[in-house]
Amino acid sequence: MTMQRIAVLTSGGDAPGMNAALRAVVRVGVSRGLEVIGVRQGYSGLIDGLVRPLGLRDGAGIIHVGGTMLGSTRCNEFRTPQGRQRALAVLEQQRIEGLVVIGGNGSLSGAYFLSQAGFPVVGVASTIDNDVNGADITIGVDTALNTALEAIDRLKTTASSHHRAFVVEVMGRAHGYLALMVGIAGGADVIIIPEVESDPDAVAATLRDAYTRGKRHAMVVVAEGAKWNAAALAAHVANHRDRIGFELRATILGHVQRGGGPGALDRLLASRTAAAAVDRLIDGESGIFMALVKGEIAALPLERVLTPKPPPDPELVRLAALLAR
Ligand code: F6P
Repeated sequence: MTMQRIAVLTSGGDAPGMNAALRAVVRVGVSRGLEVIGVRQGYSGLIDGLVRPLGLRDGAGIIHVGGTMLGSTRCNEFRTPQGRQRALAVLEQQRIEGLVVIGGNGSLSGAYFLSQAGFPVVGVASTIDNDVNGADITIGVDTALNTALEAIDRLKTTASSHHRAFVVEVMGRAHGYLALMVGIAGGADVIIIPEVESDPDAVAATLRDAYTRGKRHAMVVVAEGAKWNAAALAAHVANHRDRIGFELRATILGHVQRGGGPGALDRLLASRTAAAAVDRLIDGESGIFMALVKGEIAALPLERVLTPKPPPDPELVRLAALLAR
Protein backbone atom coordinates (compact mmCIF):
# COMPACT_ATOMS: atom_id res chain seq x y z
CA MET A 1 0.00 0.00 0.00
CA THR A 2 1.36 3.44 -0.87
CA MET A 3 2.20 5.92 1.84
CA GLN A 4 -0.49 8.54 2.53
CA ARG A 5 0.54 10.53 5.57
CA ILE A 6 4.01 11.67 6.61
CA ALA A 7 5.24 13.98 9.33
CA VAL A 8 8.16 16.39 9.52
CA LEU A 9 10.03 17.88 12.47
CA THR A 10 13.04 20.08 13.12
CA SER A 11 15.15 19.27 16.15
CA GLY A 12 18.23 20.41 18.08
CA GLY A 13 19.93 23.76 17.44
CA ASP A 14 18.16 25.61 14.64
CA ALA A 15 20.05 26.49 11.47
CA PRO A 16 19.42 29.00 8.68
CA GLY A 17 17.77 26.98 5.91
CA MET A 18 15.55 24.80 8.09
CA ASN A 19 12.48 26.68 6.86
CA ALA A 20 13.53 26.18 3.25
CA ALA A 21 13.77 22.45 4.03
CA LEU A 22 10.29 22.44 5.64
CA ARG A 23 8.87 24.22 2.62
CA ALA A 24 10.34 21.58 0.32
CA VAL A 25 8.95 18.71 2.43
CA VAL A 26 5.46 20.25 2.32
CA ARG A 27 5.52 21.08 -1.38
CA VAL A 28 7.04 17.82 -2.61
CA GLY A 29 4.88 15.79 -0.22
CA VAL A 30 1.62 17.50 -1.23
CA SER A 31 2.47 17.39 -4.93
CA ARG A 32 3.02 13.64 -4.60
CA GLY A 33 -0.43 13.23 -3.04
CA LEU A 34 0.59 12.96 0.62
CA GLU A 35 -0.88 14.53 3.70
CA VAL A 36 1.97 16.31 5.47
CA ILE A 37 1.84 16.77 9.25
CA GLY A 38 4.07 19.28 11.03
CA VAL A 39 5.36 18.34 14.49
CA ARG A 40 6.02 21.37 16.68
CA GLN A 41 9.02 21.62 19.03
CA GLY A 42 11.02 18.66 17.73
CA TYR A 43 11.01 15.32 19.51
CA SER A 44 9.40 16.71 22.66
CA GLY A 45 6.45 17.90 20.53
CA LEU A 46 6.28 14.43 19.03
CA ILE A 47 6.11 12.85 22.48
CA ASP A 48 3.40 15.34 23.50
CA GLY A 49 1.44 14.98 20.24
CA LEU A 50 1.90 18.62 19.11
CA VAL A 51 0.96 18.03 15.51
CA ARG A 52 -0.98 19.88 12.82
CA PRO A 53 -1.56 19.36 9.11
CA LEU A 54 0.55 21.51 6.79
CA GLY A 55 -0.88 22.68 3.47
CA LEU A 56 0.87 24.24 0.50
CA ARG A 57 0.38 27.75 1.88
CA ASP A 58 2.16 26.81 5.11
CA GLY A 59 5.33 26.69 3.05
CA ALA A 60 4.72 30.20 1.72
CA GLY A 61 6.90 33.17 2.61
CA ILE A 62 9.44 31.20 4.65
CA ILE A 63 12.25 30.25 2.28
CA HIS A 64 14.23 33.37 3.22
CA VAL A 65 13.42 33.33 6.94
CA GLY A 66 15.92 32.04 9.53
CA GLY A 67 15.07 29.63 12.36
CA THR A 68 12.31 27.07 12.01
CA MET A 69 8.59 27.79 11.81
CA LEU A 70 7.88 24.50 13.62
CA GLY A 71 10.14 25.36 16.55
CA SER A 72 12.84 23.09 17.93
CA THR A 73 14.04 21.65 21.24
CA ARG A 74 16.77 19.50 22.68
CA CYS A 75 14.78 16.63 24.17
CA ASN A 76 16.36 14.43 26.85
CA GLU A 77 13.26 12.27 27.19
CA PHE A 78 13.61 11.11 23.59
CA ARG A 79 17.06 9.72 24.46
CA THR A 80 15.36 7.12 26.68
CA PRO A 81 13.60 3.96 25.37
CA GLN A 82 10.44 5.07 27.22
CA GLY A 83 10.48 8.47 25.48
CA ARG A 84 10.90 6.86 22.08
CA GLN A 85 8.06 4.43 22.87
CA ARG A 86 5.78 7.38 23.63
CA ALA A 87 6.79 9.03 20.34
CA LEU A 88 6.06 5.82 18.41
CA ALA A 89 2.65 5.59 20.08
CA VAL A 90 1.80 9.15 18.94
CA LEU A 91 2.94 8.34 15.38
CA GLU A 92 0.64 5.31 15.35
CA GLN A 93 -2.27 7.17 16.93
CA GLN A 94 -1.95 9.92 14.29
CA ARG A 95 -1.78 7.31 11.49
CA ILE A 96 1.58 8.73 10.39
CA GLU A 97 3.45 6.33 8.12
CA GLY A 98 6.80 8.04 7.66
CA LEU A 99 8.87 10.81 9.24
CA VAL A 100 11.36 13.38 7.95
CA VAL A 101 13.77 14.58 10.65
CA ILE A 102 15.69 17.80 9.95
CA GLY A 103 18.62 18.36 12.30
CA GLY A 104 22.18 17.61 13.33
CA ASN A 105 23.91 14.72 15.07
CA GLY A 106 21.60 14.37 18.09
CA SER A 107 18.47 14.60 15.95
CA LEU A 108 19.75 12.15 13.35
CA SER A 109 20.82 9.70 16.09
CA GLY A 110 17.23 9.88 17.37
CA ALA A 111 16.04 9.20 13.82
CA TYR A 112 18.35 6.18 13.68
CA PHE A 113 16.81 4.69 16.82
CA LEU A 114 13.26 5.23 15.49
CA SER A 115 14.19 3.52 12.24
CA GLN A 116 15.73 0.64 14.21
CA ALA A 117 12.37 0.27 15.95
CA GLY A 118 10.89 -0.35 12.50
CA PHE A 119 9.44 3.11 11.82
CA PRO A 120 10.21 4.59 8.35
CA VAL A 121 12.46 7.67 8.84
CA VAL A 122 14.64 9.71 6.51
CA GLY A 123 16.88 12.48 7.90
CA VAL A 124 18.08 15.78 6.44
CA ALA A 125 21.48 16.94 7.72
CA SER A 126 21.17 20.44 9.16
CA THR A 127 23.50 22.09 11.67
CA ILE A 128 25.84 25.07 11.58
CA ASP A 129 28.59 22.91 13.19
CA ASN A 130 29.25 20.82 10.05
CA ASP A 131 30.03 17.87 12.31
CA VAL A 132 27.75 15.25 10.73
CA ASN A 133 29.87 12.28 9.71
CA GLY A 134 29.74 11.67 5.96
CA ALA A 135 28.25 15.06 4.98
CA ASP A 136 30.51 17.51 3.15
CA ILE A 137 28.51 20.50 4.28
CA THR A 138 25.24 20.68 6.21
CA ILE A 139 22.35 23.14 5.98
CA GLY A 140 23.17 26.39 7.81
CA VAL A 141 26.96 26.20 7.67
CA ASP A 142 27.46 28.60 4.78
CA THR A 143 25.17 31.27 6.25
CA ALA A 144 26.80 30.93 9.69
CA LEU A 145 30.23 31.30 8.10
CA ASN A 146 29.17 34.48 6.33
CA THR A 147 27.62 35.88 9.51
CA ALA A 148 30.81 35.21 11.48
CA LEU A 149 32.90 36.71 8.68
CA GLU A 150 30.89 39.90 8.69
CA ALA A 151 31.58 40.24 12.42
CA ILE A 152 35.29 39.61 11.90
CA ASP A 153 35.52 42.16 9.09
CA ARG A 154 33.93 44.72 11.41
CA LEU A 155 36.22 43.85 14.30
CA LYS A 156 39.24 44.26 12.05
CA THR A 157 38.43 47.88 11.34
CA THR A 158 38.29 48.79 15.02
CA ALA A 159 41.31 46.57 15.75
CA SER A 160 43.37 48.47 13.14
CA SER A 161 42.35 51.86 14.52
CA HIS A 162 43.51 50.98 18.02
CA HIS A 163 46.36 48.65 17.18
CA ARG A 164 44.79 45.98 19.36
CA ALA A 165 44.73 42.21 19.40
CA PHE A 166 41.38 40.46 19.26
CA VAL A 167 40.20 36.92 19.81
CA VAL A 168 36.89 35.91 18.27
CA GLU A 169 35.15 32.73 19.38
CA VAL A 170 32.88 30.90 16.98
CA MET A 171 30.52 27.98 17.61
CA GLY A 172 31.00 24.42 16.39
CA ARG A 173 30.66 22.34 19.55
CA ALA A 174 33.64 19.90 19.64
CA HIS A 175 34.42 20.45 15.97
CA GLY A 176 36.82 23.09 14.58
CA TYR A 177 35.37 23.36 11.06
CA LEU A 178 33.65 26.74 11.52
CA ALA A 179 36.70 28.28 13.20
CA LEU A 180 39.08 26.98 10.56
CA MET A 181 36.98 28.23 7.63
CA VAL A 182 36.16 31.57 9.23
CA GLY A 183 39.82 31.97 10.16
CA ILE A 184 41.06 31.30 6.64
CA ALA A 185 38.39 33.43 4.96
CA GLY A 186 38.73 36.20 7.55
CA GLY A 187 42.53 36.38 7.35
CA ALA A 188 43.14 35.43 10.99
CA ASP A 189 46.71 35.42 12.28
CA VAL A 190 46.06 32.41 14.48
CA ILE A 191 43.31 29.77 14.36
CA ILE A 192 42.70 27.57 17.39
CA ILE A 193 40.64 24.41 16.94
CA PRO A 194 39.98 21.50 19.32
CA GLU A 195 41.58 19.00 16.94
CA VAL A 196 45.02 20.66 17.05
CA GLU A 197 46.91 21.30 20.28
CA SER A 198 47.76 24.92 20.98
CA ASP A 199 49.95 26.80 23.43
CA PRO A 200 48.81 30.25 24.65
CA ASP A 201 52.35 31.62 24.85
CA ALA A 202 53.03 30.56 21.27
CA VAL A 203 49.76 32.29 20.26
CA ALA A 204 50.87 35.49 22.05
CA ALA A 205 54.27 35.30 20.35
CA THR A 206 52.60 35.00 16.92
CA LEU A 207 50.40 38.02 17.65
CA ARG A 208 53.39 40.10 18.77
CA ASP A 209 55.26 39.00 15.66
CA ALA A 210 52.33 40.15 13.51
CA TYR A 211 52.82 43.71 14.82
CA THR A 212 56.59 43.48 14.44
CA ARG A 213 56.04 42.58 10.80
CA GLY A 214 53.97 45.72 10.38
CA LYS A 215 50.42 44.39 10.59
CA ARG A 216 47.88 46.92 11.88
CA HIS A 217 45.86 44.34 13.81
CA ALA A 218 46.25 40.85 15.14
CA MET A 219 43.32 38.47 15.17
CA VAL A 220 42.79 35.03 16.65
CA VAL A 221 39.77 32.92 15.66
CA VAL A 222 39.03 30.19 18.15
CA ALA A 223 36.50 27.35 18.22
CA GLU A 224 34.27 27.22 21.30
CA GLY A 225 35.29 23.59 21.87
CA ALA A 226 39.02 24.34 22.09
CA LYS A 227 40.79 24.11 25.46
CA TRP A 228 42.11 27.66 24.93
CA ASN A 229 38.77 29.25 24.07
CA ALA A 230 38.33 33.04 24.02
CA ALA A 231 37.83 33.41 27.77
CA ALA A 232 40.77 31.15 28.67
CA LEU A 233 43.10 32.83 26.19
CA ALA A 234 42.14 36.38 27.20
CA ALA A 235 42.58 35.45 30.88
CA HIS A 236 46.02 33.97 30.19
CA VAL A 237 47.15 37.10 28.36
CA ALA A 238 45.74 39.34 31.14
CA ASN A 239 47.42 37.25 33.86
CA HIS A 240 50.79 37.55 32.14
CA ARG A 241 50.34 41.10 30.89
CA ASP A 242 53.82 42.24 31.99
CA ARG A 243 55.56 39.41 30.21
CA ILE A 244 53.31 39.33 27.11
CA GLY A 245 53.06 43.10 26.79
CA PHE A 246 49.66 43.67 25.13
CA GLU A 247 45.92 43.39 25.72
CA LEU A 248 43.73 40.79 24.07
CA ARG A 249 40.05 41.69 23.69
CA ALA A 250 37.61 38.79 23.44
CA THR A 251 34.38 38.62 21.41
CA ILE A 252 32.16 35.56 21.65
CA LEU A 253 29.83 35.48 18.65
CA GLY A 254 27.49 32.89 20.17
CA HIS A 255 23.97 32.48 18.84
CA VAL A 256 24.29 35.43 16.45
CA GLN A 257 25.83 32.83 14.11
CA ARG A 258 22.66 30.75 14.10
CA GLY A 259 20.33 33.66 13.45
CA GLY A 260 19.27 35.47 10.29
CA GLY A 261 17.97 34.38 6.92
CA PRO A 262 19.76 31.71 4.87
CA GLY A 263 21.96 32.59 1.90
CA ALA A 264 21.60 31.08 -1.57
CA LEU A 265 23.73 28.01 -0.84
CA ASP A 266 21.68 27.02 2.22
CA ARG A 267 18.32 27.65 0.52
CA LEU A 268 19.35 25.42 -2.39
CA LEU A 269 20.93 22.72 -0.23
CA ALA A 270 17.88 22.64 2.04
CA SER A 271 15.42 22.53 -0.87
CA ARG A 272 17.31 19.74 -2.63
CA THR A 273 18.06 17.51 0.37
CA ALA A 274 14.55 17.82 1.85
CA ALA A 275 12.87 17.13 -1.51
CA ALA A 276 15.06 14.04 -1.93
CA ALA A 277 14.17 12.90 1.61
CA VAL A 278 10.44 12.88 0.76
CA ASP A 279 11.07 11.05 -2.52
CA ARG A 280 13.14 8.38 -0.75
CA LEU A 281 10.53 7.94 1.99
CA ILE A 282 7.76 7.47 -0.58
CA ASP A 283 9.96 4.97 -2.42
CA GLY A 284 10.05 2.86 0.74
CA GLU A 285 13.53 3.75 2.00
CA SER A 286 14.28 4.28 5.69
CA GLY A 287 17.25 4.54 8.06
CA ILE A 288 19.07 7.02 5.82
CA PHE A 289 19.78 10.76 5.78
CA MET A 290 20.25 13.11 2.85
CA ALA A 291 23.33 15.29 2.58
CA LEU A 292 25.77 16.82 0.13
CA VAL A 293 28.53 14.31 -0.62
CA LYS A 294 31.19 15.19 -3.22
CA GLY A 295 28.91 17.83 -4.68
CA GLU A 296 25.90 15.53 -5.11
CA ILE A 297 22.77 15.03 -3.01
CA ALA A 298 23.30 11.56 -1.58
CA ALA A 299 21.77 9.16 0.93
CA LEU A 300 23.92 7.90 3.80
CA PRO A 301 22.99 5.33 6.45
CA LEU A 302 21.78 7.03 9.65
CA GLU A 303 24.09 4.72 11.56
CA ARG A 304 27.03 6.86 10.34
CA VAL A 305 26.07 9.70 12.66
CA LEU A 306 26.84 7.52 15.67
CA THR A 307 30.54 7.80 14.79
CA PRO A 308 32.27 11.20 15.06
CA LYS A 309 33.27 13.05 11.90
CA PRO A 310 37.02 12.88 11.25
CA PRO A 311 39.05 16.04 12.05
CA PRO A 312 39.41 18.76 9.40
CA ASP A 313 41.81 18.11 6.51
CA PRO A 314 45.40 18.73 7.77
CA GLU A 315 46.13 20.38 4.40
CA LEU A 316 43.67 23.15 5.31
CA VAL A 317 45.32 23.54 8.72
CA ARG A 318 48.70 23.93 6.98
CA LEU A 319 47.25 26.37 4.44
CA ALA A 320 45.75 28.47 7.24
CA ALA A 321 49.18 28.84 8.88
CA LEU A 322 50.83 29.67 5.56
CA LEU A 323 48.29 32.34 4.63
CA ALA A 324 48.60 34.04 8.02
CA ARG A 325 52.15 35.26 7.27
O1 F6P B 1 24.80 22.60 17.42
C1 F6P B 1 24.62 23.95 17.13
C2 F6P B 1 25.11 24.80 18.27
O2 F6P B 1 24.87 26.14 17.92
C3 F6P B 1 26.55 24.60 18.69
O3 F6P B 1 27.47 25.25 17.83
C4 F6P B 1 26.54 25.13 20.08
O4 F6P B 1 27.57 24.57 20.86
C5 F6P B 1 25.20 24.72 20.58
O5 F6P B 1 24.38 24.52 19.44
C6 F6P B 1 24.53 25.69 21.48
O6 F6P B 1 23.36 25.09 21.94
P1 F6P B 1 22.16 25.85 22.65
O7 F6P B 1 21.53 26.74 21.62
O8 F6P B 1 21.28 24.76 23.10
O9 F6P B 1 22.80 26.66 23.73
